[in-house]
Amino acid sequence: MCGIVAYVGEKEAYPIIIEGLKRLEYRGYDSAGISVINGDLATFKCKGKVSDLEAVILDGPLHGNVGIGHTRWATHGVPNDVNAHPHLSGDGNLSIIHNGIIENYAPLKQALENLGHVFKSDTDTEVLIHLIEEVKKEDNLSLEEATRRALQKVVGAYAIVILDKENPHKIVGAKKSSPLVFGIGDGEYFLASDASPMVKYTDKVIYLKDEEIITIDLNEGYEIRTIENEIKKPKVLQIDLKIEELEKGGYEHFMLKEIYQQPITIAESMRGRINAAEGWGKLGGMELHMNRFLNAKRIVLTACGTSWHAAMIAEYLFEDLARIPTEVEYASEFRYRNPIISPDDVIIALSQSGETADTLAAVKLAKSKGAFIYGIVNNVGSTIARTTDSGSYIHAGPEIGVASTKAFTSQLTVLTLMAIILGYQKGKISEDYYRQLLAEMESVPTLVSKILAKADQIKYIAGEVRNASNALYLGRGYNFPIALEGALKLKEISYIHAEGYPAAEMKHGPIALIDMYMPVVIIATNKSAHEKIISNIQEVKARKGIVIAVITEGDQTIKEMADFSIEIPNIAEPLSPLLAVIPLQILSYHIAVMRGCHVDQPRNLAKSVTVE
Ligand code: F6R
Repeated sequence: MCGIVAYVGEKEAYPIIIEGLKRLEYRGYDSAGISVINGDLATFKCKGKVSDLEAVILDGPLHGNVGIGHTRWATHGVPNDVNAHPHLSGDGNLSIIHNGIIENYAPLKQALENLGHVFKSDTDTEVLIHLIEEVKKEDNLSLEEATRRALQKVVGAYAIVILDKENPHKIVGAKKSSPLVFGIGDGEYFLASDASPMVKYTDKVIYLKDEEIITIDLNEGYEIRTIENEIKKPKVLQIDLKIEELEKGGYEHFMLKEIYQQPITIAESMRGRINAAEGWGKLGGMELHMNRFLNAKRIVLTACGTSWHAAMIAEYLFEDLARIPTEVEYASEFRYRNPIISPDDVIIALSQSGETADTLAAVKLAKSKGAFIYGIVNNVGSTIARTTDSGSYIHAGPEIGVASTKAFTSQLTVLTLMAIILGYQKGKISEDYYRQLLAEMESVPTLVSKILAKADQIKYIAGEVRNASNALYLGRGYNFPIALEGALKLKEISYIHAEGYPAAEMKHGPIALIDMYMPVVIIATNKSAHEKIISNIQEVKARKGIVIAVITEGDQTIKEMADFSIEIPNIAEPLSPLLAVIPLQILSYHIAVMRGCHVDQPRNLAKSVTVE
């Protein structure tokens, strides 16, 4: 993962880089570092967050107009001061920041050690900068040419930027499988893992492609070549990202802001795509390829983490409403298990970031087998969005809290709409039901607002169970994946061990865990299995478990049985996950805050997982 930022221009590089790193901290936050050219090459780095780095630079900001910065999520080598980036070449002239993994670093390191190179850190990145130094010296090459030739020897993923003390107006960047965005300002240039560090200064960007190398010279401008030395002239794009979207906007945490944004973000994911009064729903990317969907023998959804939970709900939706056989695959399993994929398959890849390495690899694999690939992505212009054949953006806006919330409900909105459209076009749902579902979809933002208004009641419940060491989440049918998602939200931000189960599976094992200390969150809104859910609650109560039930408004029966209940508005069952997840997000958030956890940057995690 890791976040990288580089600046070349007339301004002081230090504040721009530090601010940029803070915006990129969602990508990793176990150590940070910076190099600035100021006659010499000044490099500072340390274990910890960007604020710790600022504290290390005791003599005040560094001066200089060219610099690079890094915030790390450790892969090779523990997070400590030495392993933090930037890493220097043996002669100290070159400084590199890197996001990715150099897979063949061990033989490269051995060969360099044989030539007399001495390494200070355990990282693959230090090997790369020594390799570039070696290639550069061997043939007295320019930095860009040495980088190009060195990268030909490298196996793995990289987004890198390099400074050269002897060329103080120049930086060289390159990418393969990890993102690198180039920003063109007024007499200044930026390179970064995403556009957030540069939006304050420019809206003109180029998304570099794999195996492209960019040389930026303050006096001569920029040049992009491929690793094969072919000159490229990519189109400069204009991005639509506002600085307010990257701020907390008065909320204590990004996660809280993002939970509260959901009435708006869900509405944004439907905007121009649905009109219940006129009886239509449409998704541009799907319309263009409707035959592929209508004739698909099978839909396979692939994703990781929370996106995988959205995919699981889509399996219920596509099979229930559109009667299309559907499978869901963890991207990391799909790509390595030699799956059967045929050209009649539609593969749907889901990713908030659009950069998740496993999901990207699954997309590439399915593409190589001739399947049609549809992307459901948040991050506009991201690698997965650009690799798929078609797709729908979810338009949730930047999601900065590491725990995914608004992206999940926007993914679900798009998936639900797809299933409704397909069900209707395939003649599997009646005109009346189609119109009813469209109308209920349009009401979702208002219903989510109603649930958000109950946050204080949910906060109270959080206070009652905040000291639990374990928790169980149970759901049936459409809400089984919501149980998984609720458990993931709790464990990732509060570090309470939590498991999600289909409610009926509880008696096949997990019931052994239930005692008076165990909170059991039961999503009990199902109309189709109401009696069965009641039996499951009885089973938990009989073992003295603490029942927190998410129920449909007015469900007096379950309300009386549960220790705590959270009422959510009534809605058609296929749409219920869109509502049921909201109280679970709020519950996790408050429990984590009460336990003093760092909600937006939970330990060991990073927002964008670009390693496999
Ligand atoms: C959990 C979470 C992760 C991501 C997963 C996939 O809250 O955010 O589980 O869902 O890393 O990320 P994307 O959707 O960016 O591919």
